[in-house]
Amino acid sequence: MSRTVYVNGDYLPEEEARISIFDRGFLMADGVYEVTSVLDGKLIDFAGHAARLQRSLSELDMAAPVSMDELLAIHRELIARNDIDEGMVYLQITRGNPGDRDFAFPDPATTPSTIVLFTQSKPGLADNPAAKVGLKVISIDDIRWGRRDIKTVQLLYPSMGKMMAKKAGCDDAWLVEDGTVTEGTSNNAYIVRGNRIITRQLSSDILHGITRAAVLRFAAEAQMEIEERPFTIAEAKAADEAFITSASAFVMPVVQLDGEAVGTGQPGPLVTRLREIYLDEMRKAAV
Ligand code: PDD
Repeated sequence: MSRTVYVNGDYLPEEEARISIFDRGFLMADGVYEVTSVLDGKLIDFAGHAARLQRSLSELDMAAPVSMDELLAIHRELIARNDIDEGMVYLQITRGNPGDRDFAFPDPATTPSTIVLFTQSKPGLADNPAAKVGLKVISIDDIRWGRRDIKTVQLLYPSMGKMMAKKAGCDDAWLVEDGTVTEGTSNNAYIVRGNRIITRQLSSDILHGITRAAVLRFAAEAQMEIEERPFTIAEAKAADEAFITSASAFVMPVVQLDGEAVGTGQPGPLVTRLREIYLDEMRKAAV
């Protein structure tokens, strides 16, 4: 069934949506994005995603083409028009169409940014069977650029990483730089020792996950200990549990790393509990 999508102020059937071939998102990957989950027809942590979007835009000297209130209204309108119960809303803002290809940024006064949003219906997103068996992960070199804290649409290497994982019969890849794990291809990475959660500290090395912030808050409230520091693949293999977080996976156990079982090789008690807490709390706070 055709979706209704949003392009620069218009709600259109997806077949009628048009973007210029000169759009800098297309030619230069000059754009930022957000993915916000929908549960029970409501947005999960919209405020967090809106705040990170504003930060990504400002780091790239781009202005938001709509206010955050309007953005929330657009998200809700798309959820309603497409009858989304569980799934995601994808949002992308690019530096627009200057009418030609040029490395220099165009003048924003004459080249407005391009904004598109669309929904992805994913029935069963919260009850994902992968959460019961866990993910198999490989490690690969992190060769991405140095501003991973900006959520840009330059996703070629993460896509390649997913393909490397797929080729190895696995689900995803963890990225390793200077001997330690930065994050997953499209998620933040964690290991667990006893009651202690270990995850890399925030810096420009990783995306500042919106799910990460909420999960660490809930973990602290549940008396779990948190240590924010880099960890190695060897340490992860010797951990009791491992997991990832993202807006679309929520909290997802990792049970195998480079072919070796993590802990028992089954989703452990801490990650299972944390996923339940996260889903319960976020459903309550959804808008
Ligand atoms: N990815 N790290 C990277 C590199 C990511 O791409 C993502 C999100 C995260 C987790 O961030 P959050 O918790 O805010 O979703 C960490 C999204 C889901 C995607 O590209 O589809």
